[in-house]
Amino acid sequence: MSEAIAATKQAAAIPARNAASAAATEDSAYLRISGVVKKFGDHLAVDHIDLDIRKNEIFALLGSSGCGKSTLLRMLAGMETPTSGRIILDGQDMQGLRPYERPVNMMFQNYALFPHMTVEQNVAFGLKQDGVSKEEIAERVAKMLELVQMRKFAGRKPHQLSGGQQQRVALARSLVKRPKLLLLDEPLGALDKKLRQQTQLELVNTIEAVGVTCIMVTHDQEEAMTMSSRIGIMSEGKLLQVGSPTEIYEYPNCRFTAEFIGETNMFEGAVVVDEADRVEINSQELGGAIHIDHGITGPKGMHVWASVRPEDVRLDKQPLQPGPNRAAGVVQDIAYLGSYSVYHVKLASGKIVKSVVPSSRWFDANETAPTWDEPVYVSWRSDTPVVLTM
Ligand SMILES: Nc1ncnc2c1ncn2[C@@H]1O[C@H](COP(=O)(O)OP(=O)(O)O)[C@@H](O)[C@H]1O
Ligand SMILES: [Mg+2]
Repeated sequence: MSEAIAATKQAAAIPARNAASAAATEDSAYLRISGVVKKFGDHLAVDHIDLDIRKNEIFALLGSSGCGKSTLLRMLAGMETPTSGRIILDGQDMQGLRPYERPVNMMFQNYALFPHMTVEQNVAFGLKQDGVSKEEIAERVAKMLELVQMRKFAGRKPHQLSGGQQQRVALARSLVKRPKLLLLDEPLGALDKKLRQQTQLELVNTIEAVGVTCIMVTHDQEEAMTMSSRIGIMSEGKLLQVGSPTEIYEYPNCRFTAEFIGETNMFEGAVVVDEADRVEINSQELGGAIHIDHGITGPKGMHVWASVRPEDVRLDKQPLQPGPNRAAGVVQDIAYLGSYSVYHVKLASGKIVKSVVPSSRWFDANETAPTWDEPVYVSWRSDTPVVLTM
């Protein structure tokens, strides 16, 4: 077994974040979105979404720009009215409730902090509006600033803070009112990549410490996988798949998801054998057979795709015995990334197969790494491909 494969299977055993929420079945529909549609004129921006969110879950809506993520979020916040469908939060129907009447808080990408107010005043603002007593405001604001590690900056104005600090103040301001639902639209979009990665876990830890149900929207798959307990993949207004990061990555239910989350090699083919525990596909792109240990149920001849992750594709310099799940090719490109390289191998059909190869692979085999134009052999285990029918 190659190291790359071992690494994948280990990853599969990683429990989802926020596992506590998984146990609470009575809370499985703390937020229930059912049959929600939003049309702008003829344009179906949100297309019949059904989704249950658990209490204290951090859920990520992931999809490319324009797929309807923000529109769905805005309907939850009460800033858009659904064309049809229902939104129930903690047993309460949200229909007809104005944004300020909802126990919901939305944090925007640009944070919208008041520039003339101090950090403390920004966080206190909503509580003041609600007529909360001075003592209680002071106590809740102090506690919240402590939690986001901004207490010593309480007297500063937003322009005296870094992007990451502004983001924490905005979060404190959203959480201090103890909303039942926190909505984050591209929460880290304004930060540069390095700060973003650092802030992701910080943000999750704060949300978990406070204990609030949270839906975040992002187009960044890494962000969704790092931060959430479950992910919903959206495309063209539809929710294509909902699952834990591991489920979505290991068991995508369609080509869109498989290609959207991470990289994959997609082989088009036709079903030759479909038995309970075994599927065989004939793929011209591969120039041979793909055998898969776990079954789909589909008729012989059915048009399908086999998705094989690059880290599951083994690369060899020596010819392999004839068999399924393998092909000969030529190295067309190599991206050396330090601890591993991504090889692009061109098969006889013209298909390019990507293989992620740990750098240790060649030390272990006492070989030199294959180079451009060198003949190589790709292969994978029959438990690694996923068969997709759409
Ligand atoms: N107020 C609006 N009027 C008309 N079309 C809109 C409006 N808001 C969003 N849309 C359209 O709905 C689609 C989904 O938009 P949006 O929810 O903002 O996508 P995302 O947040 O996933 O990028 C887009 O095609 C967008 O142009
Ligand atoms: Mg958006």
